[in-house]
Amino acid sequence: MPDGEVDRVRDEAQPLGLVVRVDRVLRVSERDRHSRAQGHRGEATAVALLSHRPDRIVRVGLDDDAALHADVQVGQHVALAERGEEHLLGVPALGVPVERPVTAALDVVRVPGSRDQMRPRVGAVVARPGPAVPLPDDGDRIFVVMVHIDHRTLVAMADTLTSIPQSRALITEIPGPRSRALHERRAAVVARGVSLGAPVYAVRAHGGIIEDVDGNRFIDLTSGIGVVTVGHTDESVVAAARDELGRLTHTMFPTVPYEPYVRVAELLAEHTPGDFPKKSVIVTTGAEAVENAVKIARRYTRRTGVAVLDHAYHGRTNLTMAMTYKAHPYSAGFGPFASDVFRAPGSYPFRDGLTGPEAAARTIAHLEKVVGGENLACIVIEPIQGEGGFVIPADGYLAAIADWARDNGVVFVADEIQSGMARTGYWYAVDHEGVVPDLVTTAKGIAGGLPLAAVTGRAEIMDDAGPGGLGGTFGGNPVACAAAIAVYERIETGGLLERARAIGAVLLPELLRLQAKFPVIGDVRGRGAMLAIELVDPHTHAPDAAAVNAIIAFAIRHGVILLSAGSDGNVLRFLPNLATSDELLLDAIAVLEAGLESLG
Ligand SMILES: Cc1ncc(COP(=O)(O)O)c(C=O)c1O
Repeated sequence: MPDGEVDRVRDEAQPLGLVVRVDRVLRVSERDRHSRAQGHRGEATAVALLSHRPDRIVRVGLDDDAALHADVQVGQHVALAERGEEHLLGVPALGVPVERPVTAALDVVRVPGSRDQMRPRVGAVVARPGPAVPLPDDGDRIFVVMVHIDHRTLVAMADTLTSIPQSRALITEIPGPRSRALHERRAAVVARGVSLGAPVYAVRAHGGIIEDVDGNRFIDLTSGIGVVTVGHTDESVVAAARDELGRLTHTMFPTVPYEPYVRVAELLAEHTPGDFPKKSVIVTTGAEAVENAVKIARRYTRRTGVAVLDHAYHGRTNLTMAMTYKAHPYSAGFGPFASDVFRAPGSYPFRDGLTGPEAAARTIAHLEKVVGGENLACIVIEPIQGEGGFVIPADGYLAAIADWARDNGVVFVADEIQSGMARTGYWYAVDHEGVVPDLVTTAKGIAGGLPLAAVTGRAEIMDDAGPGGLGGTFGGNPVACAAAIAVYERIETGGLLERARAIGAVLLPELLRLQAKFPVIGDVRGRGAMLAIELVDPHTHAPDAAAVNAIIAFAIRHGVILLSAGSDGNVLRFLPNLATSDELLLDAIAVLEAGLESLG
């Protein structure tokens, strides 16, 4: 950087002083980031990634795989300059004191693939000063701060997307040293009952990729068990939550109400199945939603019985433990349990070979015998069983059960906590069959990762409970509501229902191809972006949980995060989020194929 330029940058940087503050968040995609910066704001002159935590070391780097990442102390003045083809990060060139030596990696920042569009010339980014602290090992939000010296504008935007290349990359053994160290800390203080899935610790995530504390990047086929359906750190969801956070963190809706809660209830009424007046109560977790659905149904029917199915999963609270099928690990030793819960066989086509009407007749006959329809307040069914192994009931099963429930005054509750919110290519999985439940539970995917859940249903049922009968301190938190509103918008304007179906169209044929090649795959099933394979002994069809565990362990070592399911633990479930590219999906399939091969 020529001396004159250094002076100019320093002069212009200084007035910026402590101004790195997010007052405007732009929603931009990776594709249009640079062109937007140029087209609407004049040529960007500097770009750097800064932590929003003023007391943290920040990571600086630009774009893509080849970008060099370097750590810069907060408080340093950072500048970019151009030298031929290279973009220089000229910390010392500014002549400001640095708190530690500048590493070689920090001296040059390349902007791969974007040179044509973006030519940073000279710029400066000034972070707020703070004490030097060790490198962060948790997930800081990253801002892309663009300083337009020429136009004297400063734009800050949330952009973790560009900070995490959408590709798999392994740079340490798995787990890496930092994950192992964290694991030791965890073992000392986190209860054993909190299960351990992937042995790596996430530091940030975007789109379909999770990056761990050691810098490894994984294709995430779990979406936090179907939660970040719109993608990790979706820009619009992050922006909406951040905006709301600056306005309202909490009032408690029943104490002092606010609009976002009402808006979420409107959106739920609009998008849940059924064309009749609907009302909602917004709560915080899935299990809480299920508990409330049962409460509401009991109150409305003045009955107490609750029917659930084999292989069901409804949560870990006292009532939902009683409703959940699998004793180990969910309920064994945690009793006594809530009473008046009756379990019936459902429909599991791969295992029972029954048609939908046959399986429904079996369910109904069982319930009539053990409890009697007239004693049931509700029947709670997952239209696609989640934890149970992505079991899709045979055609006609749900409709027959819904008819029987209606005829017997039993409230039909669809637990769509895992299968709802665009996951299967429809807003709700019951929509595939045109079945209309009386009550629907929604959670997981509704708020892009923030805790929010709801019971929505026929107004006359929902309104039976009197004021104060429903709710809770955190239910419908304004920040989570704002995120949920953004999620609805993302799904609608981003074509995400179609994307979920397209993901199914990419993955299903691949899984069927693998089934033809590997006899251990007994069944391939799923809808949209909710797919599974069931692994069995090819001769006896006995569940093969060991194969599932071996593949999950193989996959994580090769940069893919997978999840098991099934009452026998022998199902591999695939829950990619809807921001996952076909390229990533096929890359993950290649790893899965290698994993299946490794079984020998
Ligand atoms: C179908 C279903 N119901 C209920 C729950 C419980 O939700 P939460 O874990 O938010 O309490 C889950 C969670 O996996 C679920 O999949």
